[in-house]
Amino acid sequence: MQPIQAPYPLGRFRRLRRTGALRALVQETQLTAGDLIWPVFLCDGSKRRDPVASMPGVDRLSLDLVVEAAAQAADLGIPAICLFPYTDPSLKTADCREAWNPENLTNRAIRAIKAAVPDIAVMTDVALDPYNSHGHDGIVEDGVILNDESIVALVKMSLAQADAGADILGPSDMMDGRIGAMRAALEEAGHRDVTIMSYAAKYASAFYGPFRDAVGATGALKGDKRTYQMDPANSDEALRLVARDLAEGADMVMVKPGLAYLDICRRVKDAFGAPTFAYQVSGEYAMIKAAAANGWIDGEKIMLETLVAFKRAGCDGILTYFAPEVARLLAR
Ligand code: PBG
Repeated sequence: MQPIQAPYPLGRFRRLRRTGALRALVQETQLTAGDLIWPVFLCDGSKRRDPVASMPGVDRLSLDLVVEAAAQAADLGIPAICLFPYTDPSLKTADCREAWNPENLTNRAIRAIKAAVPDIAVMTDVALDPYNSHGHDGIVEDGVILNDESIVALVKMSLAQADAGADILGPSDMMDGRIGAMRAALEEAGHRDVTIMSYAAKYASAFYGPFRDAVGATGALKGDKRTYQMDPANSDEALRLVARDLAEGADMVMVKPGLAYLDICRRVKDAFGAPTFAYQVSGEYAMIKAAAANGWIDGEKIMLETLVAFKRAGCDGILTYFAPEVARLLAR
């Protein structure tokens, strides 16, 4: 693009900013409810709504309530909901076998939502951390997170979720080779149309803190995730990971966290043109909510500003805990 601009005073940028109508005409990106994926936390029981202390406005929901929430989301035009289970510590083991139990919390929730609200897409998390007594996303032996052994477990987990009716599998584990292994297993099992949104560029980030509280992983995690999640200082590596995951059969790719990594979103979109998503993670949500609660910022305006920034950076959609709040606001 070769911008041509008449010199001042012939050219005045403020002409097109003078009224709301003119501003609307030249707006380059739009945020709609259709851009949103809503991450929700599951808990056992019924009629249960447990607030997550570090994420004001976010609750862990029992299955009956998550079905209601999915119906409300669908009414608001939100196309997808993403499930994260709070797992009872007694179900966490070194071999993570609860991850592929057809009756685990996530798989029961997938079936319940698909039965009651068939139009909403159900996305899952494919990683072992909710089920791992070590709190890691893969199988741990002598303090080492084993790549290839983890893939075997992740494939079993993916197939159980696909069997339950998941529309989008979201591998967030960052093991090498998992996308190819999952895609091959899905093909072989006849799950040809199950989509994969790869957490392709997932950084080892302190922004995940409140999430780990929400899923009960904070106390469980030994050490950190830097041997499998990315170094926040790296950018070229993100492109190589996205290229790799697309080549292995991912349908969509994700960058995570969001706001501090918009440069990565833009590079990924420009380089590949694939459906690109960002995850506005728990810490980003918590920071906005906390500052707003103190009266230091306008929470609603900041919510909208951050979400439109993702669209401007090239994202096709955003995973955000603000999804129902922002969809309600956009509907007004
Ligand atoms: C774990 C997982 C994490 C998130 C999504 N899936 C945390 C982690 O990697 O430790 C973070 C989401 C958030 O912070 O909102 N597989």
